[in-house]
Amino acid sequence: MTVFIPEDKVAEIKHTADIVDIVSEVVLLKKTGKNHLGLCPFHTEKTPSFTVSPDKQIFHCFGCGEGGNVFSFLMKHNGVSFPEAVQMIARRYGIDIPTQSMSIEQKKRFGERERIFSVNKAAMTFFYNNLMNVTAGQKAVNYLQKRGITKEIIEQFRLGYAPGTWDSLLKMLQKKGISHSLAHKTGIIVPRGNGNGYYDRFRDRIIFPIFDRGMQVIGFGGRVMDDSLPKYLNSPETPVYNKSKSLYGLHHAKKECRKTGAVFIVEGYFDLISLVQHGLGNAVATLGTALTSEHVQIIRGLIGKSGKVILVYDSDEAGIKAARRSIEVFEKSFVDAGILVLPTGHDPDSYLFEFGVESFQKAAAGSLGIISFLIESAVKKYGLSIEGKIQTISDLQGPLSAITNSVARSLYIKELAEKTGIDEAAILEKIRTTSVKTAHSGNKWPGHAIDTMVAGHDKTSQDKWKRIEEQIIAMMLQSPGIIPEIRNKKVLDNFESNTLKQIGHLIIEHKDFHVNGDVSNLMACLNDNTQRRIIASLAIGEDIWNDNGCRKLIAQFLNSRNNRKKTLLKEIKAAEDRNDHELLLKLLKEKQILVSRKGISILEFAGGKTL
Ligand code: CTP
Ligand code: MN
Repeated sequence: MTVFIPEDKVAEIKHTADIVDIVSEVVLLKKTGKNHLGLCPFHTEKTPSFTVSPDKQIFHCFGCGEGGNVFSFLMKHNGVSFPEAVQMIARRYGIDIPTQSMSIEQKKRFGERERIFSVNKAAMTFFYNNLMNVTAGQKAVNYLQKRGITKEIIEQFRLGYAPGTWDSLLKMLQKKGISHSLAHKTGIIVPRGNGNGYYDRFRDRIIFPIFDRGMQVIGFGGRVMDDSLPKYLNSPETPVYNKSKSLYGLHHAKKECRKTGAVFIVEGYFDLISLVQHGLGNAVATLGTALTSEHVQIIRGLIGKSGKVILVYDSDEAGIKAARRSIEVFEKSFVDAGILVLPTGHDPDSYLFEFGVESFQKAAAGSLGIISFLIESAVKKYGLSIEGKIQTISDLQGPLSAITNSVARSLYIKELAEKTGIDEAAILEKIRTTSVKTAHSGNKWPGHAIDTMVAGHDKTSQDKWKRIEEQIIAMMLQSPGIIPEIRNKKVLDNFESNTLKQIGHLIIEHKDFHVNGDVSNLMACLNDNTQRRIIASLAIGEDIWNDNGCRKLIAQFLNSRNNRKKTLLKEIKAAEDRNDHELLLKLLKEKQILVSRKGISILEFAGGKTL
């Protein structure tokens, strides 16, 4: 994949980029000693085990085992290819990537996302200019003014106006030489029903460009200025726009979220910009979809582990629906969430304009946690008659049994018992009859689990060897001066773990590394995810290796291997004498690993015996 971005460019980009900067965009990092620590964006965890090393320019999660350099981080996090990750960083640091050397096919693949971004940007400018045009944009400007939107907000969010004709955007694109098929990919034009040409998707609408974190335009929303339907039109899903991963206002919210440790989640475009206009910059909006776990992951990166999410809804019903749906999403992400339901008839936008920001903040401060909110709403709805209480308990049965944290669950059960005056034990009994949740399945140490060791031989001895072998690789990574000795003494030949052995050889072959010790660079030469993760995990440690310590470890390892070979021979002999076939088989398998590189077959050791 690296072939068509010149190597020196990749190197330049890599050296310019700072992994702490890049990761900080999505993970709240805290400095601890030499490294930075935060919540892993690749799995859900309560205690931070995601470690970033600024010295080594690598990351590693001690929880899920993910690890790599700045490029692997972006690839994994954004689901993009290597060249795209390189391009993202280049763009961020203002580095130009020459594309002349690429073949047409390569340029095409490399550039699709880029090209969609640039068409979207052209469209955004077109919409914006229309809004700013005294004649064309007058109606739209009036509408925005009527809704209290300031000039600054229009600028900040680059609001625009799509003219009422069927082809103004189309014509502009044509003039710019942008092909229909590319424009179609962005979703801003739509093929005509008769199969003959295209027309503009957005007509006579206020336009809200949707930005990603890096300020690229990924899509648009468009609102009519009267009561006609549909009220909103949105870009379809495209290679750069995925609703369940996108949040409106994210590009703007980042800084304020970090500062306040809280985020308001609203439902609408106008709600979001009203919050911002009223000084509540820590807000994002979902784009006509329910809150997904991907959204929550993004948000968690912004507000950190102890941050708070406040979901703002415009009616009890909407709030209850969203609360019920999102319990699991929040519980899995360990994010504290509260629900704020505004008085009937108000959404955040209308509320702020009518009652002001202080009143909004006061209401937000009193927002209830999701379950407490559900309990309160049910009690309010059904009352405290016997039937009402029964109905309340039955309503809460599902949400309560969705909580896997048993402490949290029992606290909520207690709360429900208090609110309804029903015995805790009775409620508990009722919950038990609901679905039984399956336990979380941890995924520690990927890669190692699929290591190719011969089955059947003692698990603990395998572990023991693996630990020493890992130590040796860690030593090679952290103290490259020792590599020649490892090579000369053929230490790797004695490795049991094939994965670790391969990694060791890779380090030996990568001569540059012996000189510069650049782990991140070493990773750039790897295509294998498992190898990359293991290297990250072993390199990120801060062990102190002195020459003596290194030599001692090597000697110890080689000695134990030799001793094992000797004792193994004795044990094999004894097992043969006792005719203990089961043990013999096990020992021979171990023997096979120990000597396999010398080409001695299992039969030779068994003395030709049939097993
Ligand atoms: N929405 C949508 N398509 C629709 C209606 C709504 O995508 N046909 C999404 C939009 O993102 C919208 C949000 O759902 O902003 C909330 O819808 P709604 O409450 O109806 O509109 P408001 O955002 O309140 O817009 P306004 O204040 O202009 O009425
Ligand atoms: Mn509204």
